[in-house]
Amino acid sequence: MFIPKEIIQNWLMGFGWVAKAARRYHSTGINADPVEARKVFDLYVRFAPVAGKDVLEIGPGQTLEVLDYALAEGARSCAATDVADYLSYERVRRSGIAYRVCQGKTLPFDSEQFDLIWSYTVFAHLRFPDITVGECFRVLRKGACSSPTLILATTRRMALLTPAGFSSA
Ligand SMILES: C[S@@+](CC[C@H](N)C(=O)[O-])C[C@H]1O[C@@H](n2cnc3c(N)ncnc32)[C@H](O)[C@@H]1O
Repeated sequence: MFIPKEIIQNWLMGFGWVAKAARRYHSTGINADPVEARKVFDLYVRFAPVAGKDVLEIGPGQTLEVLDYALAEGARSCAATDVADYLSYERVRRSGIAYRVCQGKTLPFDSEQFDLIWSYTVFAHLRFPDITVGECFRVLRKGACSSPTLILATTRRMALLTPAGFSSA
C-alpha cells in the first residue's frame, strides 16, 4: 500500500461526482451476476420462505437480482437500502423494489414493516453494527402471526435470528 496514493484517493472520493464515477468500476461482490444472485437467493429460502412476505435487503451493492428472484417467487414487497448509490434510476424503477440510500445508522423505514431481512457480506463492513442490528429488530414485525427473521450471510457462514433464538450454519 502506497499511503500518499490512498490519502489522495480518499480525498478525491469526497467529491460526489468522483465517487459516483468510481462506483461504476467498483466490484461489490455479486456485481449483478444473475447466477451468483440465484445461489444467494436459494441459500436464504432454505431458511425462510418468501411467499407473501415483505422483504428488506441491507447492502445490495450493485445487485438487485436477489430481490428480483424474491418478487418472482411471490414476495409481497421488496425494499433495499445501501449507504452508497450503486444503481441507476432506471434499474431501480424497472425492479419495483423500494430502494433507499441510507446514512448507515438508522434504517430509513417505518417500524414493524418487514417480515424478513436479508444481508449478504455486509455486516463486516458496518460502522455501527450494534445500532444496525437494533434497527433491524425495530423494522421487523412482531406479533403472534408473524415470524420475523433476520438472515445474515457471508460466503462461508449463515446466521439466523428469529424469535426462537439465534442459530448459525
Ligand atoms: C461487500 S459489499 C456486498 C454487496 C452485495 N451484498 C453483494 O454481495 O454483492 C457491502 C455493501 O454493504 C454496503 N453497506 C456498508 N455499510 C452499510 C450500512 N450501514 N447500511 C447499508 N449498506 C451498507 C456497501 O455500500 C456495499 O454495497
